[in-house]
Amino acid sequence: MRSLIERLHREHTLSPDELRTLLVGCDAEHLALINQKAREVAYSHFGNRIFIRGLIEIGNCCRNDCFYCGIRRSNRNVERYRLDKETILSCCAQGYELGFRTIVLQGGEDNYMTDERVVDLVSSIRKAYPDIAITLSLGEKSTEAYQAFYQAGANRYLLRHETHNEAHYQSLHPESMSLQNRLRCLYDLKKIGYQTGTGIMVGSPGQTIEHLVEDILFIETLQPEMIGIGPFLPHHDTPFASEPSGKMEQTLLLLSIFRLMHPKALIPSTTALATLAPDGRERGILAGANVVMPNLSPVWQRSKYALYDNKASMGAEAAEGLRLLEEKLDAIGYVIDKSRGDYEN
Ligand code: 5AD
Repeated sequence: MRSLIERLHREHTLSPDELRTLLVGCDAEHLALINQKAREVAYSHFGNRIFIRGLIEIGNCCRNDCFYCGIRRSNRNVERYRLDKETILSCCAQGYELGFRTIVLQGGEDNYMTDERVVDLVSSIRKAYPDIAITLSLGEKSTEAYQAFYQAGANRYLLRHETHNEAHYQSLHPESMSLQNRLRCLYDLKKIGYQTGTGIMVGSPGQTIEHLVEDILFIETLQPEMIGIGPFLPHHDTPFASEPSGKMEQTLLLLSIFRLMHPKALIPSTTALATLAPDGRERGILAGANVVMPNLSPVWQRSKYALYDNKASMGAEAAEGLRLLEEKLDAIGYVIDKSRGDYEN
């Protein structure tokens, strides 16, 4: 086990068999070792600095019906909302004032949010804030739409593939969605020039070690600039309401594997990890993450963007809670970096 970890550290790759061995056999002692190696690699590229991204959840209307997600179309118990352009711009203003130089616009796949409306929104933000990075996380769009958003001034795009296994993908999503289109989107985004983020939920229902190996190999092929991984957490109004959460240890192991394989990638310590345990955010950083994404959405609607139960959006997960985040990071020897934090080769 130790020699596998050391080789992953040195060579940034392992065979499928070796990955399987690592995923199956990593005990607490070796988890501590791989977390330490991953942390050292992150430190060698980023020092003790953690990039921050202001997350604006622009709407929870969604045409999709993903079995894991709290804002899935069939959930009649969500109060749907959509932020208008002025509200989004004022979130950006607040974020800019607080020192954020990356804003992330995330939302469900909302038919009202036509490509034209997204272009208009991105252009307006770009005009008002020439020096910030604009990240979009709005789901699957056409090639032309991605091109238009990029031309309007978007720099980055987040779209987790969720699982690279066809059968597993179909067990998490309705028939209207396909892994093939998901992957088409990701290759489009890379080709257009976006800093592209993908990733998975750890411990999603039906996920096996084999699936995880496939995910790791896919990410090695895609070479995304950003890798988002967090535990699956059940939402009470979904078909997966009584499925167990993903495990902290497995999430931290995967985080460290991704850090060792992709030394310069931007890897957030996710809100889901911070929701799973009170010290989740810190543990993610100590396992090799180098980004956190505090919530910049208007406080009055945060609770409506519940992808899973008990989703953290206040305190150190909130943009207005940067001081608290600063204190928590300080306690583990890290500081906030307020630069744009672009991917650097
Ligand atoms: N648990 C954890 N993560 C979730 N996401 C959606 N629903 C859940 C859940 N129940 C993640 C998906 C999606 C991202 C925006 O949120 O991976 O890509």
